[in-house]
Formats: sequence, C-alpha cells, structure tokens
Amino acid sequence: MRTKLNIGLIGYGFMGRAHSNAYRKVNHFFDVPYQPVLKAACARNELKAKAFADQWGYESVETDWRRLIERPDIDAVDICAPNNVHREIAIAAARSGKTVLCEKPLAMDGCQALEMVEAVEAAGVPNTVWYNYRRVPAVTLAKRLIDEGRLGKIFHYRAVFLQDWTISADLPQGGQGLWRLDAGVAGSGVTGDLLAHCFDTALWFNGRIERLTAMTETFVKQRKHNLTGNVEPVGIDDACAVLARFANGSMGTFESTRYARGHKALYTLEINGEHASIAWDLHDLHRLSYFDHRDESITRGWRSIHVTDADMPYMDKWWVPGLQIGYEHTFVHQVADFLANLAKGEPTSPTFREALATQYVCDAVLASAREHSWEEVRK
Ligand SMILES: NC(=O)c1ccc[n+]([C@@H]2O[C@H](COP(=O)([O-])OP(=O)(O)OC[C@H]3O[C@@H](n4cnc5c(N)ncnc54)[C@H](O)[C@@H]3O)[C@@H](O)[C@H]2O)c1
Repeated sequence: MRTKLNIGLIGYGFMGRAHSNAYRKVNHFFDVPYQPVLKAACARNELKAKAFADQWGYESVETDWRRLIERPDIDAVDICAPNNVHREIAIAAARSGKTVLCEKPLAMDGCQALEMVEAVEAAGVPNTVWYNYRRVPAVTLAKRLIDEGRLGKIFHYRAVFLQDWTISADLPQGGQGLWRLDAGVAGSGVTGDLLAHCFDTALWFNGRIERLTAMTETFVKQRKHNLTGNVEPVGIDDACAVLARFANGSMGTFESTRYARGHKALYTLEINGEHASIAWDLHDLHRLSYFDHRDESITRGWRSIHVTDADMPYMDKWWVPGLQIGYEHTFVHQVADFLANLAKGEPTSPTFREALATQYVCDAVLASAREHSWEEVRK
C-alpha cells in the first residue's frame, strides 16, 4: 500500500502540464512508496483552472496560492508559475510545513534564492528544483562515466542553448505566454531561462565555477507591453556568451540566444578530458556520444551510444532495449527519485541549496556583462 502525497500545483502552463503528466505516470512505471494525489490546481483564472483540473484529474481548484498553502489536505506545493512569484510562494509553503518542489530558475536572483534556501532548511521540509535535464538517461549516464574517472583530467566544458522565437521586433513583451521577455517577471532573459540549465548540468558534471566573464546583448531594445499597452524598454538579455574557469582548472564556454535562426531548442554540451570526451544533444536526447583515446587506434572513433538498455539509467523501467523515451520522461524520473528519497528521508538533487549555486553563477554572468568585468562566483 502506497502512502498518499497530496499535491497542490500552482500554474497550469507548460510546466503545469509536464509535472501533472509525471505525477499521473510515475506509479505505473516506478515502484516507489508514495502515490502522488492531484489534490488541487491553482491559477488566478477560475474557469481556466477548472478546465485544467478536469483535463488532468485534479480534485479541486484554488485561485489564490495563499489559500492553497493554508489547506491542511495539501502535503506538497509544486511551483510552476513564473519566476517572480517563486520566492514568496516557496517561503510561505515552507513556513506552513509543506514539501516544496519549485521550477527553475529557483528565483529572480541569488539574494532571493538564499532566502528560499534558508526558509526550507529552517522548516526542515523536503525540497527540489526541476532542473530536469539531469534526468535525461543519456545525461545521467554521462555523469556516471565522468564520476568513474573515465575522462581523466578535464580540460574543457562547453554548452550552448539556442532558440529563435523572439527575433521579430513586433513580438510584444509581458503577460500570458510572453512573461519571459519582461525582466520584472523573468528576472533575466536567456541567462536565467536557458543558461541556468547549462550551468546546473555543468556544476553537476564538473564542479564549481570560480570566475567568469560574460557579454550580453538585447537586440530589440523596446517592445510593446501586453499589460500596459505601452512601448517599453526591454530589460532582458536576448543573448549571452560566457567564459568561465572551473575550480578543477578546466575552461568553460557557454552561449545562449533566442536569435539563432533555425534553432528551436538546441541544447548541446561537450566535455573534453585527458582520455575521453562526451557530447550530448537535446535534439537526439537518447544518444550519448563518447570518444575514448585508449581504444585500439584502428577502430578508435566517436561512438553513438543508444541509451536504451536496461543497465542504463532509468531504462529498466520503460520499454525494451532499442526503444527510446523522450522529454516528458525526465519529469517522471524526477518525481520517481523524489518519492523514493522522501521515503528514505534523503534529499533529491538539485535541492534548493544546490540550485542556489546555479543562481550565483547567473548573478555573476549578469554582473560581468553589466560591468565588463571578470567576476568571482559567490560560494
Ligand atoms: N524545467 C524546464 O525545463 C522548464 C521549462 C519551461 C519553464 N520552466 C519554468 O517553469 C515556470 C513556469 O514556466 P511555464 O513555461 O510553465 O510558463 P507558462 O506561461 O506556460 O505558465 C505559467 C502559469 O503560471 C500561472 N501564473 C502566473 N502567475 C501566477 C500566480 N500569481 N498565481 C498562480 N498562477 C500564476 C499562469 O497563469 C500560467 O498558468 C517558470 O519558472 C519557468 O522558468 C522550466
């Protein structure tokens, strides 16, 4: 018999759907001691919240997240709303003794994120941040190969995250669907939205980033604001390039933009070590590229590992070798790990504290771009 975990989900957009799908699927595929119960969905528009609740099977709706948090029948609060409300909701939820799952980036900046870390740690509540790319099986496998020392001394880490959806100068900023262009809601542009994913994976794979320098650009300086109707300055970074020095002595380069025509969501990473290299591409997410210089020279070359065998991360829970899974499953994996760890009383990475480190890297990037400086990343 599984223990029920009553979920209160805030925000019914892209992530609200991805998480709801994960809660519904997890017990079919993973033998975990908890069963998520879709207790309440919260959004400001009652009709839309009801339609969402009906579609996904939530038992009730709330239109104010404060009421959701006050409810004694809610065990875990899942924050799928835009970045500017993460802090207030997470702190209130922690103080009410709720488990907190928060979408990334954890907060608008490191100061907010630190307050959130202090709140969950003071309350002693389980917490995690949805940096879901860690749980693409090929990415989890890469982490295993790195931790086994197969790459040897690491020289380079490079990652890019490219999109092309904001090129039109006619695109407005703000409001439903376009809050990512409004700095007051998003906190930053590609740095917090896309590079945060790259930094989270990089810190996990390769350890602390000590110093960095960055350049950002805002190609369209003014856009009509959907909420005010006025043409207003654009405060987000449309593009960002970063040079970084890791504590292990390796060099990092990171680039992200929403102006790379032809790319919808190209997240690629590569790590080069003394003996071996690893590369991964979100567009081909079930494959891991691996090159090992110690192979016999006449057959040495890049291998494309199809990450579907049962001895590969998470894959024993899905289909048969050769059949792949996709994006949505990364969220199922995070829920499965979270529920398994909850039963053991163990944290699920990335915790709020681990996500704070990513937030500090984002802060350093934005400060460097502003000041044209090299910045030390706060510990
Ligand atoms: N892990 C990932 O890969 C990933 C991908 C996309 C988005 N995100 C993050 O998830 C969060 C949500 O992004 P999204 O793409 O789902 O956005 P979205 O615009 O699709 O949905 C946001 C939802 O939040 C609701 N909302 C806004 N303010 C609210 C409030 N005060 N109270 C209750 N609901 C409110 C909106 O009505 C909407 O339903 C953001 O923090 C974003 O950075 C993470």
